[in-house]
Amino acid sequence: MPQLGFGVWQVTDEEATTAVAKAIEVGYRSIDTAMIYKNEKGVGEAIKNSSVPREDLFITTKVWNSDQGYENTLRAFDESLERLGLDYVDLYLVHWPTPQFDEYVDTYKALEKLYHDGKVKAIGVCNFEIEHLERLLKECEVVPVLNQIECHPYLSQKELKEYCASHNIFVEAWSPLEQGGEVLQNEEIKLMANAHKKSPAQVILRWHIQNNTIVIPKSVTPSRIEENFNVFDFELSGDEMAQIDNLNKNRRRGKHPNEMNFR
Ligand SMILES: NC(=O)c1ccc[n+]([C@@H]2O[C@H](COP(=O)([O-])OP(=O)(O)OC[C@H]3O[C@@H](n4cnc5c(N)ncnc54)[C@H](OP(=O)(O)O)[C@@H]3O)[C@@H](O)[C@H]2O)c1
Repeated sequence: MPQLGFGVWQVTDEEATTAVAKAIEVGYRSIDTAMIYKNEKGVGEAIKNSSVPREDLFITTKVWNSDQGYENTLRAFDESLERLGLDYVDLYLVHWPTPQFDEYVDTYKALEKLYHDGKVKAIGVCNFEIEHLERLLKECEVVPVLNQIECHPYLSQKELKEYCASHNIFVEAWSPLEQGGEVLQNEEIKLMANAHKKSPAQVILRWHIQNNTIVIPKSVTPSRIEENFNVFDFELSGDEMAQIDNLNKNRRRGKHPNEMNFR
């Protein structure tokens, strides 16, 4: 799986075709969508039109909260596959644990079936806290390959990252740029950006990459799609990495997973 991918939350079906085509042209090979983004069709269109062979692309989608449960998940997966126009996906994720409905273990068992049947190459989760992961590790067989969680310099997720690392679960950062928020105006990050002749977004993406985090920035702006991919020709020093680590405010843009009960 490429460490840098392309996210398409809040991108319409139509925009997704154009944005994903641009991303593939720039060099991205990993695309992160979800049933609830309502753009699987647009993403699939870009994949179909692309001259890059399917096996060189890494496509992720997710089962939404209202489709949880064993049978529902199997059906939702087939529907996602049909919208994408694919015969397999590379990674299928449980979108949120929604613990109050207590269906995530059964949902994950359906992902294990899809994995054993060869319909998905890998399975994982999003927004799982340590207690949710512990339960999966106890009650299921296949260790989730990754946990996709909100993570950026204002929410560094140190403890959860350490837990994942100790169980061989990769961490993938969603909203890696804090949804284009205040962190891009942070003075310390701006100084580092100037020193490296890079943008604040590039410095933040580089921080994720040097932390061994998988990262999926979203943009519908062609110049930014390109800019965000251009982060492999410079390196942050140990001091700069530590300085960004110190910006943590435990401040979320999204909901805490235990408070997400929207279906
Ligand atoms: N599993 C989950 O629960 C979950 C939740 C949220 C997101 N995700 C995934 O993670 C992906 C990324 O997260 P996200 O979309 O929330 O936020 P993000 O990637 O942190 O930020 C996207 C925002 O930043 C702007 N932006 C992008 N590149 C920029 C740059 N170089 N300079 C300045 N601004 C820039 C974009 O604007 P423009 O588009 O206008 O250029 C957009 O408004 C999503 O698309 C989705 O695939 C998953």
